[in-house]
Amino acid sequence: MAKIVKLEPIAQEAEVQTNDNLLSGLLRNELNVLQECEGRGLCSTCHIYIKNGMESLSPLNRREQRTLEVITTAKPNSRLACQARVIGEGIVVELPAGMYVNAIEDIEALIGRRAEQDILHPINGKVLVEANKLITRSVLNQLQDARLQAGEYLARTTEA
Ligand code: FES
Repeated sequence: MAKIVKLEPIAQEAEVQTNDNLLSGLLRNELNVLQECEGRGLCSTCHIYIKNGMESLSPLNRREQRTLEVITTAKPNSRLACQARVIGEGIVVELPAGMYVNAIEDIEALIGRRAEQDILHPINGKVLVEANKLITRSVLNQLQDARLQAGEYLARTTEA
C-alpha cells in the first residue's frame, strides 16, 4: 500500500510503497539525489531530516548510524533516505539546503563562477562553498580527497 510522505520546504508530496525506502519517493519526485554510494548507506548525499513520523520508519541500522556520526550537519532527527523504509503514516521529510556535487567534472566546469546554492561535501555534508561565493580550484582538491576516502571506505566495507 502506498503512503504519502510530505517533503519540505518544497511543499511537495511523494508516494512511497510500504517497505520501500524514502529515496525511491524522492527520486520519483524528480529530486536530484546523487547517491554517491549507490544507496549503500555510506555517504551523505541522501541525508534528510525527519520533521514528523520517525516512528513510521524502519529503525536505524548500524551502518546508517555509523555514517550519520560522520555527517557534520546531522541532528537527532537525521536519516539516510536510502536506508529508512516507510512502514507507517504521517512522515514529513525536511530536505537539507544545499546541493551535492559528486562528479569532479561538474565542479571543474563551475570554477570561477559563483555558487547558486551551498555546495556540500559528499561524505560529511560540510558546506564546501557557500551560496554566492566564488568556486575555486581548492574545492576541487577537497572533493578529490573525499573521493579517495570514500573509495577506501567502500573497499574496506566490502571486504569486511
Ligand atoms: S545514497 Fe549513500 S547513503 Fe544513501
